[in-house]
Amino acid sequence: AEALRIGIAGLGTVGASVVRMLAAKQAELTRQCGRGIVPVAVSARDRGKDRGVDLSQAQWFDDPVALARAPGIEVFVELIGGEDGPALAAVRAALEAGRHVVTANKALLSRHGVELATIAEEKGVLLNYEAAVAGGIPVIKTMREALAGNRVNRVFGILNGTANYILTRMEAEGIDFETCLAEAQRLGYAEADPTFDIEGHDTAHKLSILTSLAFGCRISARDIYMEGISNITQADIRAASELGYRIKLLGVAQKTESGIEQRVHPTMVPVSSVIAQVHGVTNAVAIETDMLGELLLSGPGAGGDATASAVIGDIADIAKSRPGFQHGPVFGWPARALTPYQRAR
Ligand code: HSE
Repeated sequence: AEALRIGIAGLGTVGASVVRMLAAKQAELTRQCGRGIVPVAVSARDRGKDRGVDLSQAQWFDDPVALARAPGIEVFVELIGGEDGPALAAVRAALEAGRHVVTANKALLSRHGVELATIAEEKGVLLNYEAAVAGGIPVIKTMREALAGNRVNRVFGILNGTANYILTRMEAEGIDFETCLAEAQRLGYAEADPTFDIEGHDTAHKLSILTSLAFGCRISARDIYMEGISNITQADIRAASELGYRIKLLGVAQKTESGIEQRVHPTMVPVSSVIAQVHGVTNAVAIETDMLGELLLSGPGAGGDATASAVIGDIADIAKSRPGFQHGPVFGWPARALTPYQRAR
């Protein structure tokens, strides 16, 4: 079969890993998908920058929107980031032009996910976003597909690798906050603006997406109570430890009698709990349902290759899908059937 032609916009930590891994894994992917996956076009801000990957076979676009609409492209991969701006314009353009989209952009989906899902569903194309929540952990596929028919009561977890990395190293090695943050940035875990990691915005973006998948409601990050970890000191960590607890930045969404409750804040968890054993850049997502009880998924939550793994899985799904096949709803429930967000009192 003919190779799947993809266009990639954004060549930061994740974009460069995707290009590198697609080249390295070409044989495996071709065998699994029955066809190759070829990045025929790329776009990024700085054409001259050396990213350590071979882009010589790909057409260069300065404008991601032009790439999103380019006629030779079947899949548009958005790894630009940001909740508005070029990422939004390009994803909209791609969907409207009938291209499948793969994105890792939680900020974009948190704000515009329902609108974008509506377009994708009308056009009959896929909008895949496994990498947007909890990095390499396949939590979207799990919630969107594997948990059909389950009634979810609660979903919670450690959704930001940078914050968990900082808290882990502060506790285990007594290193100060700023040093841990700088290290997380060096390792490619942090957002372009790391205040998103440490003030809880990134966790809130991801939680808002999980909430929609869990409860079939419209996404609302505005209704999230949010507190980050920037005020956590060594003294707090030691005090928690003396009481038998660890401090973790958790995102929690649950259904109550009056509506949905969503919150993000540092939480004392008993040292003996499973969530307390989640260290470093690892994320964990717990999902409580009527049929399953509690399901816990854990794994690498940030970093180029772990996130690229989720992006490539999403691209491979498209490579395997048959032409004319009707795709399932983006958030697990048809976008038009999502209920209005009802905040718990
Ligand atoms: N900055 C994010 C984190 C990247 O640290 O978890 C993954 O979304």
